[in-house]
Amino acid sequence: MSKRAVVTGVGHYLPDRVVPNSEFEKTLDTTDEWIKTRSGIERRHFAAEGQTTSDLAIRAAQAALENAGIGADQIDGIVVATSTPDLTFPSVGTMVQRGLGMEHGFAFDVQAVCAGFIYALTTANSMLLSGQAQRLLVIGAETFSRIMDWTDRSTCVLFGDGAGALVLEAQDGKGDNTDRGILAADLNSDGRYREMLFVDGGVSTNGESGKLRMQGNALFRQAVDKLAGTAFTALKKIGLEDDDVDWIVPHQANIRIIQGTARKMGIPMDRVIVTVQDHGNTSAASIPLALSVGVSSGKIKRGDLLLSEAIGGGLAWGSVVLRW
Ligand code: ACO
Repeated sequence: MSKRAVVTGVGHYLPDRVVPNSEFEKTLDTTDEWIKTRSGIERRHFAAEGQTTSDLAIRAAQAALENAGIGADQIDGIVVATSTPDLTFPSVGTMVQRGLGMEHGFAFDVQAVCAGFIYALTTANSMLLSGQAQRLLVIGAETFSRIMDWTDRSTCVLFGDGAGALVLEAQDGKGDNTDRGILAADLNSDGRYREMLFVDGGVSTNGESGKLRMQGNALFRQAVDKLAGTAFTALKKIGLEDDDVDWIVPHQANIRIIQGTARKMGIPMDRVIVTVQDHGNTSAASIPLALSVGVSSGKIKRGDLLLSEAIGGGLAWGSVVLRW
């Protein structure tokens, strides 16, 4: 017998304001057609003025707790993946803790940009398996609209705001790959790629929060190989193959990256959860958002084998194999 971190609740929150591609045609030399064909994005949600990452995270956490049928009093800790915190400190995690009325436990943030949720899940998994906690909230929440350069058509049309959350619980498993829960994970980073995707401001650099800068084309060329590579590595760790995967639930940056990775893994697109058309790239929020949409649409069912993979600034990339 061995412990497994099993998902017992999932939920998400998207800000009310929906921005279609056509809105960018008014201010930039771009078209709905270009954005759709190059990225797969049709619309995205933007947070309202004054609405912060922790506001979105709290709503997603409440939805996940409701889905799990438990209260915040039954949660031991909170792990938030974000690169767009409300403040430099304290963490978004502690703001969520306060927002949920929790006066116990612990909370902290993990920052691995678009791979953040994979890193947060892996961290939470280790804490649950080591007995540090029995039940955790794992949240991906972002307000990337706040770090956009609205004059840069090659980035500002790609990103959106949102949050998704899971409740993870330590449960007994058999110790083989038929167990429910997180079965394997693979994490990677390579700091030599820093210039490919970064924010040009920060506390110890210029004291500003900065704007996102991306060499989209160069990153695109890295993405498919690295994502398929990490997916195969994670599957191999637990003795599974691409054929065993019921659903790829990928980071939603670009439909062409999603399609290319699925093709490389030999998995047809009807076994891939795709939300990029509605959400854009919500960075660390994109995987939990896609999980939540996948479950509420009836596609992802208990017992399904899921593979999530993501790549982002750092570069940092990784994957998780999870039986729902
Ligand atoms: N509208 C119209 N034309 C545009 C736009 C736009 N919004 N943006 C760029 N273009 C132009 C470029 O200027 C270029 O013109 P040129 O040929 O005259 O120089 C042309 O379109 C082609 O540009 P490319 O960058 O080569 O376009 P590409 O097909 O690569 O698509 C994109 C760009 C969508 C950014 C793609 O490269 C991509 O998705 N990259 C990966 C993004 C990603 O995965 N990021 C990782 C996660 S993000 C994170 O971690 C925070």
